[in-house]
Amino acid sequence: MKTAFPKNFLWGGATAANQCEGAYNVDGKGLSIQDFMPDGVMKPPGKTIEERNLKLEGIDYYHHYKEDIALFAEMGFKVYRFSIAWSRIFPNGDEEKPNEAGLKFYEDVIDECRKYRIEPLITLSHYETPYHLAKTYDGWRSRKMIEFYTHYAKTVFTRYKGKVKYWLTFNEINSLWHFPYMGAGILTPKEKLSKQDLYQAAHHELVASAMTVKLAHEIDPENMVGCMVLGLVNYPRTCHPDDIIAVMEENRKGFFFTDIHMRGHYPFYTKQMFEKENIHIQMEDEDMEILKNTCDFLSFSYYMSKCMAKDDSQYEKGKGNLTTGVKNPYLKESEWGWQIDPQGLRYILNMYYERYEKPLFIVENGLGAMDELVQTDQGMCVEDDYRIAYMNDHLLEVKKAIDDGVDVMGYTAWGCIDLISASTAEMKKRYGFIYVDRNNDGSGTLKRYRKKSFYWYKEVIASQGLNL
Ligand code: BG6
Repeated sequence: MKTAFPKNFLWGGATAANQCEGAYNVDGKGLSIQDFMPDGVMKPPGKTIEERNLKLEGIDYYHHYKEDIALFAEMGFKVYRFSIAWSRIFPNGDEEKPNEAGLKFYEDVIDECRKYRIEPLITLSHYETPYHLAKTYDGWRSRKMIEFYTHYAKTVFTRYKGKVKYWLTFNEINSLWHFPYMGAGILTPKEKLSKQDLYQAAHHELVASAMTVKLAHEIDPENMVGCMVLGLVNYPRTCHPDDIIAVMEENRKGFFFTDIHMRGHYPFYTKQMFEKENIHIQMEDEDMEILKNTCDFLSFSYYMSKCMAKDDSQYEKGKGNLTTGVKNPYLKESEWGWQIDPQGLRYILNMYYERYEKPLFIVENGLGAMDELVQTDQGMCVEDDYRIAYMNDHLLEVKKAIDDGVDVMGYTAWGCIDLISASTAEMKKRYGFIYVDRNNDGSGTLKRYRKKSFYWYKEVIASQGLNL
């Protein structure tokens, strides 16, 4: 017999400041690294602000947030994940005093959510490091970043005390390996960075994250802080033991972050790896103690799985958000070549839960597709049955994982309203339940329209998943 999702399951959606807010230079906001990324992660950052960077205007959520949150409430959201643009609060990132207009903006957003009993889930850093910190300190390569980041975190924890309970420290912290500029504000080109540089930057972020957990708990014991990783399922391309070992090694690149966040210490396999690669991380005496401040929950994004092979040159490569692997012949793919694997979501939920036995939160999942706004009997709409099918299949697997015994706190659908994509910085790759009239060339009225999936998700939430 079909059973419902747990009563306290947090249903909702997710966005990131740099992909939707626009208003990049309004009310004292400083520039962020995203303001220099007109092409997403595909090209190195530009040196000037370019007009055709769609993110500068985004979907103008900065001026539409009330309308947008009202639509989220209409769907029945219990939670809304969004990020604070650090450069709205500290325009340069290293100031002592915050920018009141920035604090006020997010306070209004939070109050608007609370008006509808929607729990805010806030990402402190979602690929939007203040540009000044990238330019002056080379981002997270510098230990100074710990001080700036924790000062920022303390400022917002104090200001929003009692209004916000759920926090995430860094979006997809493991993206550092692939995109040091976007992931960690490192301006030095990737080809010039050694493994030593990357692990040192990772160490700084991990210490900052753990200090933030401690601060959050001290400021308000009700606070719950999660880490956030790009959740990737790696399958062996064949049953050859070499491919199994390739999976083990690839998994450890991601586990490195979750192990430290959730267990509070460097995992055993780093010792041998650091020796082999001649990596020496500079640490302060107190770092090991700080890392013991483990996260309350683990959150992750999930879009696809990939295959690993010892010799991957003989196989066709798949595409993906930030990382790619060998194609899986059993899976279909999205218009952007991302392989669709609902069962992988059940698998990864079980994998993390077996490892940490701490609550898990799926904070991103969804289908990027080209939508068409058409006239229907109900008015202008997008008949996005493909999106409904994608999410339906994934949510069924979430339910199976819950039935397996995994503690899943909630699910926030990525880009619950259309926004600018992260990897390719385009508008036509849409994820939303809500269509925004804006095009790749920047034209459009910015008017919002409910898609077919809007009504479907509303029913999913109302029925606690029984209509899946
Ligand atoms: C995740 C990011 O990697 O994937 C989001 O956290 C991003 O910021 C999402 O938007 C989907 O990727 P894309 O490139 O399709 O926007």
